[in-house]
Amino acid sequence: MKIGCVGAGFIGRAVAKLAVDNGHQAMLSNSRGPRSLTSTMVAVKAAVGTVADAVAFGDVVLLAIPFYAVADLDPALFEGKIVMDACNYYPGRDDPVPALDDGSATTSGMVQQHLAGAKVVKAWNAILERDIEKDARAAGAADRRALPIAGDDLEAKSAVAALFHSLGYDVVDAGPLSEGWRFERARPAYCVPLGKAELEAKLADAGIGEQADGAWRQ
Ligand SMILES: NC(=O)c1ccc[n+]([C@@H]2O[C@H](COP(=O)([O-])OP(=O)(O)OC[C@H]3O[C@@H](n4cnc5c(N)ncnc54)[C@H](OP(=O)(O)O)[C@@H]3O)[C@@H](O)[C@H]2O)c1
Repeated sequence: MKIGCVGAGFIGRAVAKLAVDNGHQAMLSNSRGPRSLTSTMVAVKAAVGTVADAVAFGDVVLLAIPFYAVADLDPALFEGKIVMDACNYYPGRDDPVPALDDGSATTSGMVQQHLAGAKVVKAWNAILERDIEKDARAAGAADRRALPIAGDDLEAKSAVAALFHSLGYDVVDAGPLSEGWRFERARPAYCVPLGKAELEAKLADAGIGEQADGAWRQ
């Protein structure tokens, strides 16, 4: 599979490297252009390009940029694309978004609103970048970690789930994008290593006003 990465920071690099190491192809991009990604290209063994190049390249596109920067993206580029949205909202870093603060919207729902012609799947949000390579396991391993996804398009979710399986992760489908809050920042399943059954339980237990401690706080 070809993965086009918008964002070449911690998450873009970690997912691209895991993908390349597992026989996929990846292209990384950022807002400054491919000339700023020379050492990244060598380290990750991925191609580099502009944002438009990376989106066009991807059978699946990874969106791994600060949440505040999503509004800068040109929606026309993403028409018809499967987009794995890894972006999380951190009040303090991102501009305040009252609809997220009061729980009346979800981050990936807002990404879907902006990228209206894309098939957005919330994915890679609830794992720290430092764990992405470390926690991957072959299918059937007793300690295989499960990661949550959410999305409104079933085919897009199937494609993303197949990619996760090939990269060493089980998947739990948390439902449509409107259920994505269940693994947003500070929820019980956020960035905690969990097997499939444990993750299903944490997603079900999440309460809209509840926050949990976790490794992400460090
Ligand atoms: N770090 C984690 O453990 C983790 C885990 C799960 C989810 N996340 C979420 O994933 C997202 C990325 O996190 P990160 O840790 O990878 O951040 P990061 O290391 O700061 O990387 C962000 C990347 O986005 C690029 N970027 C910024 N604005 C852009 C734009 N308008 N168009 C294209 N590229 C742009 C940056 O490059 P330029 O500035 O050069 O454009 C950089 O390559 C965030 O929303 C974060 O909350 C992070």
